Amino acid sequence: METVTTISAVRERVRAWHRSGARIAFVPTMGNLHAGHVSLIEAARRHGERFVASIFVNPMQFGPNEDFAHYPRTPREDERMLAAAGCDLMFMPEVTEIYPHGSERAARVEVPGLSRILEGEFRPGHFEGVSTVVAKLFHIVEPDVAVFGEKDFQQLVVIRRMVADLCLPVEIVSAPTVRDADGLAMSSRNQYLTAAERRIAPRIYATLQAAAQRLQGGDAEFTSIERGGFKSLEDTGFRPDYFAVRRAADLAPPAAEARALVVLTAARLSRARLIDNVQLTRPGA
Ligand code: PAF
Repeated sequence: METVTTISAVRERVRAWHRSGARIAFVPTMGNLHAGHVSLIEAARRHGERFVASIFVNPMQFGPNEDFAHYPRTPREDERMLAAAGCDLMFMPEVTEIYPHGSERAARVEVPGLSRILEGEFRPGHFEGVSTVVAKLFHIVEPDVAVFGEKDFQQLVVIRRMVADLCLPVEIVSAPTVRDADGLAMSSRNQYLTAAERRIAPRIYATLQAAAQRLQGGDAEFTSIERGGFKSLEDTGFRPDYFAVRRAADLAPPAAEARALVVLTAARLSRARLIDNVQLTRPGA
Protein backbone atom coordinates (compact mmCIF):
# COMPACT_ATOMS: atom_id res chain seq x y z
CA MET A 1 0.00 0.00 0.00
CA GLU A 2 1.19 3.46 -0.86
CA THR A 3 0.49 6.51 1.34
CA VAL A 4 0.09 9.91 -0.32
CA THR A 5 -0.74 13.32 1.08
CA THR A 6 -1.48 15.43 -2.02
CA ILE A 7 -4.47 15.67 -4.33
CA SER A 8 -2.23 15.49 -7.40
CA ALA A 9 -0.65 12.20 -6.25
CA VAL A 10 -4.08 10.61 -5.68
CA ARG A 11 -5.30 11.73 -9.10
CA GLU A 12 -2.20 10.42 -10.84
CA ARG A 13 -2.51 6.93 -9.25
CA VAL A 14 -6.28 6.63 -9.69
CA ARG A 15 -6.31 7.89 -13.28
CA ALA A 16 -3.68 5.31 -14.23
CA TRP A 17 -5.86 2.57 -12.67
CA HIS A 18 -8.92 3.88 -14.51
CA ARG A 19 -7.00 3.87 -17.81
CA SER A 20 -6.19 0.18 -17.23
CA GLY A 21 -9.94 -0.46 -16.82
CA ALA A 22 -9.96 -1.04 -13.03
CA ARG A 23 -13.01 -0.20 -10.95
CA ILE A 24 -12.04 2.00 -8.00
CA ALA A 25 -13.66 1.50 -4.58
CA PHE A 26 -13.24 4.21 -1.94
CA VAL A 27 -13.69 4.28 1.84
CA PRO A 28 -13.53 7.76 3.41
CA THR A 29 -12.66 7.72 7.14
CA MET A 30 -11.46 9.99 9.91
CA GLY A 31 -8.89 7.39 10.99
CA ASN A 32 -8.47 5.75 14.41
CA LEU A 33 -9.58 2.62 12.63
CA HIS A 34 -11.29 -0.34 14.27
CA ALA A 35 -13.00 -3.53 13.08
CA GLY A 36 -15.97 -1.47 11.83
CA HIS A 37 -13.71 0.33 9.34
CA VAL A 38 -12.04 -2.94 8.30
CA SER A 39 -15.51 -4.26 7.42
CA LEU A 40 -15.95 -1.23 5.11
CA ILE A 41 -12.72 -2.11 3.30
CA GLU A 42 -13.91 -5.71 3.02
CA ALA A 43 -17.19 -4.47 1.51
CA ALA A 44 -15.16 -2.29 -0.89
CA ARG A 45 -13.23 -5.37 -2.00
CA ARG A 46 -16.50 -6.93 -3.18
CA HIS A 47 -17.23 -3.90 -5.38
CA GLY A 48 -13.95 -2.90 -6.99
CA GLU A 49 -10.50 -3.91 -8.14
CA ARG A 50 -8.45 -1.11 -6.59
CA PHE A 51 -9.03 0.28 -3.10
CA VAL A 52 -8.47 3.78 -1.81
CA ALA A 53 -9.06 4.91 1.79
CA SER A 54 -8.77 8.46 3.09
CA ILE A 55 -7.89 9.48 6.61
CA PHE A 56 -8.88 13.04 7.29
CA VAL A 57 -10.29 14.52 10.49
CA ASN A 58 -12.50 17.08 8.85
CA PRO A 59 -12.67 20.33 10.85
CA MET A 60 -15.77 21.51 8.99
CA GLN A 61 -17.99 18.81 10.48
CA PHE A 62 -17.13 19.56 14.12
CA GLY A 63 -19.02 22.23 16.08
CA PRO A 64 -17.12 24.81 18.16
CA ASN A 65 -17.67 22.83 21.40
CA GLU A 66 -16.96 19.42 19.91
CA ASP A 67 -13.90 17.16 20.04
CA PHE A 68 -11.99 18.15 16.87
CA ALA A 69 -8.74 18.93 18.73
CA HIS A 70 -8.96 15.79 20.86
CA TYR A 71 -10.38 13.40 18.25
CA PRO A 72 -8.15 10.30 18.47
CA ARG A 73 -5.45 10.28 15.77
CA THR A 74 -3.45 7.07 15.23
CA PRO A 75 -2.00 7.36 11.70
CA ARG A 76 0.73 4.69 11.94
CA GLU A 77 -1.64 2.08 13.35
CA ASP A 78 -4.25 3.07 10.71
CA GLU A 79 -1.69 2.61 7.94
CA ARG A 80 -0.84 -0.86 9.24
CA MET A 81 -4.51 -1.89 9.44
CA LEU A 82 -5.34 -0.58 5.95
CA ALA A 83 -2.36 -2.38 4.42
CA ALA A 84 -3.38 -5.62 6.16
CA ALA A 85 -6.97 -5.18 4.88
CA GLY A 86 -5.71 -5.03 1.29
CA CYS A 87 -6.00 -1.29 0.64
CA ASP A 88 -3.90 -0.05 -2.33
CA LEU A 89 -3.73 3.67 -1.62
CA MET A 90 -4.10 5.66 1.58
CA PHE A 91 -4.77 9.39 1.19
CA MET A 92 -3.85 11.30 4.34
CA PRO A 93 -3.93 15.03 3.52
CA GLU A 94 -3.18 17.98 5.80
CA VAL A 95 -6.08 20.35 6.47
CA THR A 96 -4.47 22.95 4.15
CA GLU A 97 -4.51 20.49 1.24
CA ILE A 98 -8.29 20.12 1.51
CA TYR A 99 -9.10 23.68 2.63
CA PRO A 100 -6.35 25.96 1.22
CA HIS A 101 -8.37 29.08 2.20
CA GLY A 102 -9.43 27.66 5.58
CA SER A 103 -12.48 25.49 6.25
CA GLU A 104 -14.58 28.49 7.31
CA ARG A 105 -14.12 30.30 3.99
CA ALA A 106 -14.48 27.24 1.75
CA ALA A 107 -17.38 26.73 -0.67
CA ARG A 108 -19.94 24.39 0.85
CA VAL A 109 -22.37 21.68 -0.17
CA GLU A 110 -25.63 21.43 1.72
CA VAL A 111 -28.53 19.00 1.57
CA PRO A 112 -31.34 21.14 3.00
CA GLY A 113 -33.99 19.56 5.20
CA LEU A 114 -32.31 16.22 5.78
CA SER A 115 -29.25 17.94 7.27
CA ARG A 116 -31.24 19.89 9.83
CA ILE A 117 -33.22 17.10 11.52
CA LEU A 118 -32.19 14.57 14.21
CA GLU A 119 -28.36 14.80 14.39
CA GLY A 120 -28.52 18.09 12.48
CA GLU A 121 -30.72 19.62 15.16
CA PHE A 122 -28.17 18.85 17.89
CA ARG A 123 -25.04 19.35 15.75
CA PRO A 124 -25.78 22.42 13.60
CA GLY A 125 -23.52 22.53 10.53
CA HIS A 126 -22.34 18.94 10.99
CA PHE A 127 -23.86 17.51 7.81
CA GLU A 128 -22.84 20.55 5.79
CA GLY A 129 -19.28 19.68 6.81
CA VAL A 130 -19.78 16.01 5.96
CA SER A 131 -21.39 16.59 2.56
CA THR A 132 -18.79 19.21 1.66
CA VAL A 133 -15.80 17.02 2.48
CA VAL A 134 -17.32 13.91 0.89
CA ALA A 135 -18.08 15.87 -2.31
CA LYS A 136 -14.49 17.13 -2.33
CA LEU A 137 -13.08 13.66 -1.71
CA PHE A 138 -15.24 12.26 -4.53
CA HIS A 139 -13.84 14.92 -6.89
CA ILE A 140 -10.30 14.11 -5.78
CA VAL A 141 -10.50 10.30 -5.82
CA GLU A 142 -13.08 9.93 -8.63
CA PRO A 143 -14.20 6.52 -7.32
CA ASP A 144 -16.68 4.26 -9.08
CA VAL A 145 -18.07 3.13 -5.74
CA ALA A 146 -17.82 4.41 -2.16
CA VAL A 147 -18.66 2.54 1.03
CA PHE A 148 -20.26 4.03 4.16
CA GLY A 149 -21.25 2.35 7.43
CA GLU A 150 -24.89 2.03 8.46
CA LYS A 151 -23.99 3.07 12.00
CA ASP A 152 -24.08 6.69 10.78
CA PHE A 153 -27.45 6.09 9.16
CA GLN A 154 -28.42 9.72 8.68
CA GLN A 155 -25.01 10.43 7.12
CA LEU A 156 -25.68 7.63 4.63
CA VAL A 157 -29.09 9.10 3.71
CA VAL A 158 -27.60 12.61 3.35
CA ILE A 159 -24.79 11.35 1.11
CA ARG A 160 -27.12 9.32 -1.08
CA ARG A 161 -29.27 12.42 -1.58
CA MET A 162 -26.24 14.62 -2.30
CA VAL A 163 -24.94 12.16 -4.89
CA ALA A 164 -28.35 11.98 -6.57
CA ASP A 165 -28.94 15.76 -6.50
CA LEU A 166 -25.46 16.63 -7.82
CA CYS A 167 -25.51 13.79 -10.40
CA LEU A 168 -22.19 12.46 -9.09
CA PRO A 169 -21.17 9.26 -10.91
CA VAL A 170 -20.46 7.29 -7.72
CA GLU A 171 -22.35 4.21 -6.53
CA ILE A 172 -22.98 4.36 -2.77
CA VAL A 173 -22.79 1.04 -0.95
CA SER A 174 -23.68 0.63 2.72
CA ALA A 175 -22.13 -1.85 5.14
CA PRO A 176 -23.81 -3.16 8.31
CA THR A 177 -22.83 -1.86 11.75
CA VAL A 178 -20.14 -3.91 13.47
CA ARG A 179 -20.83 -4.50 17.16
CA ASP A 180 -18.94 -5.75 20.19
CA ALA A 181 -20.21 -9.06 21.60
CA ASP A 182 -22.54 -7.21 24.00
CA GLY A 183 -24.14 -5.20 21.19
CA LEU A 184 -22.35 -1.86 21.51
CA ALA A 185 -21.74 -0.42 18.04
CA MET A 186 -18.03 0.08 17.36
CA SER A 187 -17.01 3.72 17.33
CA SER A 188 -13.80 5.68 17.85
CA ARG A 189 -15.70 7.67 20.48
CA ASN A 190 -16.31 4.55 22.66
CA GLN A 191 -12.86 5.20 24.12
CA TYR A 192 -14.32 8.25 25.89
CA LEU A 193 -16.39 5.86 28.07
CA THR A 194 -15.29 5.09 31.62
CA ALA A 195 -15.34 1.41 32.69
CA ALA A 196 -18.68 1.94 34.47
CA GLU A 197 -20.19 3.70 31.43
CA ARG A 198 -18.92 0.98 29.11
CA ARG A 199 -21.03 -1.52 31.11
CA ILE A 200 -24.16 0.61 30.61
CA ALA A 201 -23.49 1.52 26.96
CA PRO A 202 -24.92 -1.68 25.36
CA ARG A 203 -28.36 -0.67 26.71
CA ILE A 204 -28.58 1.74 23.82
CA TYR A 205 -28.76 -1.15 21.33
CA ALA A 206 -31.05 -3.19 23.60
CA THR A 207 -33.47 -0.23 23.82
CA LEU A 208 -33.45 0.20 20.03
CA GLN A 209 -34.12 -3.52 19.58
CA ALA A 210 -37.03 -3.41 22.03
CA ALA A 211 -38.57 -0.56 20.01
CA ALA A 212 -37.98 -2.44 16.76
CA GLN A 213 -39.72 -5.50 18.20
CA ARG A 214 -42.79 -3.46 19.10
CA LEU A 215 -42.90 -2.10 15.55
CA GLN A 216 -42.43 -5.51 14.02
CA GLY A 217 -45.21 -6.83 16.21
CA GLY A 218 -47.57 -4.37 14.49
CA ASP A 219 -47.52 -1.51 17.01
CA ALA A 220 -47.96 1.76 15.08
CA GLU A 221 -48.04 4.05 18.14
CA PHE A 222 -44.82 5.72 17.02
CA THR A 223 -44.95 8.57 19.51
CA SER A 224 -45.46 6.20 22.41
CA ILE A 225 -42.56 4.01 21.20
CA GLU A 226 -40.33 7.09 20.92
CA ARG A 227 -41.26 8.33 24.39
CA GLY A 228 -40.79 4.85 25.87
CA GLY A 229 -37.30 4.48 24.34
CA PHE A 230 -36.26 7.96 25.46
CA LYS A 231 -37.45 7.36 29.02
CA SER A 232 -35.87 3.94 29.21
CA LEU A 233 -32.48 5.42 28.22
CA GLU A 234 -32.90 8.21 30.77
CA ASP A 235 -33.75 5.65 33.47
CA THR A 236 -30.54 3.74 32.63
CA GLY A 237 -28.38 6.86 33.13
CA PHE A 238 -28.13 8.27 29.58
CA ARG A 239 -28.97 11.82 28.59
CA PRO A 240 -30.70 11.17 25.26
CA ASP A 241 -30.89 13.87 22.59
CA TYR A 242 -33.55 12.03 20.57
CA PHE A 243 -35.14 8.63 20.11
CA ALA A 244 -37.01 8.59 16.80
CA VAL A 245 -38.93 6.23 14.53
CA ARG A 246 -38.50 7.29 10.90
CA ARG A 247 -38.94 6.07 7.33
CA ALA A 248 -35.67 4.40 6.32
CA ALA A 249 -35.60 5.93 2.81
CA ASP A 250 -35.76 9.61 3.75
CA LEU A 251 -36.02 9.87 7.56
CA ALA A 252 -39.48 11.42 7.31
CA PRO A 253 -42.00 10.65 10.10
CA PRO A 254 -43.77 7.47 8.97
CA ALA A 255 -47.42 6.98 8.15
CA ALA A 256 -49.15 4.14 10.04
CA GLU A 257 -48.79 1.77 7.06
CA ALA A 258 -45.09 2.50 6.37
CA ARG A 259 -43.01 -0.67 6.23
CA ALA A 260 -39.27 0.12 5.88
CA LEU A 261 -38.39 1.92 9.10
CA VAL A 262 -35.38 2.87 11.16
CA VAL A 263 -35.23 3.66 14.86
CA LEU A 264 -32.45 6.12 15.63
CA THR A 265 -31.03 7.53 18.82
CA ALA A 266 -28.24 9.69 20.16
CA ALA A 267 -27.52 9.70 23.86
CA ARG A 268 -24.79 10.98 26.13
CA LEU A 269 -22.97 9.25 28.94
CA SER A 270 -20.94 12.13 30.45
CA ARG A 271 -18.12 12.77 27.92
CA ALA A 272 -19.24 10.27 25.27
CA ARG A 273 -22.11 10.93 22.86
CA LEU A 274 -23.20 7.63 21.29
CA ILE A 275 -25.38 7.21 18.22
CA ASP A 276 -26.94 4.00 16.97
CA ASN A 277 -29.91 2.75 14.97
CA VAL A 278 -31.83 -0.38 14.02
CA GLN A 279 -33.49 -0.87 10.65
CA LEU A 280 -36.57 -3.05 10.26
CA THR A 281 -39.28 -4.02 7.83
CA ARG A 282 -42.77 -4.25 9.27
CA PRO A 283 -45.08 -7.01 8.08
CA GLY A 284 -47.43 -5.89 5.28
CA ALA A 285 -50.72 -4.29 6.24
O1 PAF B 1 -18.05 8.85 8.87
C1 PAF B 1 -16.98 9.48 8.93
O2 PAF B 1 -15.96 8.99 9.40
C2 PAF B 1 -16.93 10.90 8.37
O3 PAF B 1 -18.11 11.59 8.62
C3 PAF B 1 -16.57 10.96 6.88
C4 PAF B 1 -17.63 10.28 6.02
C5 PAF B 1 -15.22 10.28 6.65
C6 PAF B 1 -16.47 12.41 6.43
O4 PAF B 1 -15.50 13.10 7.14
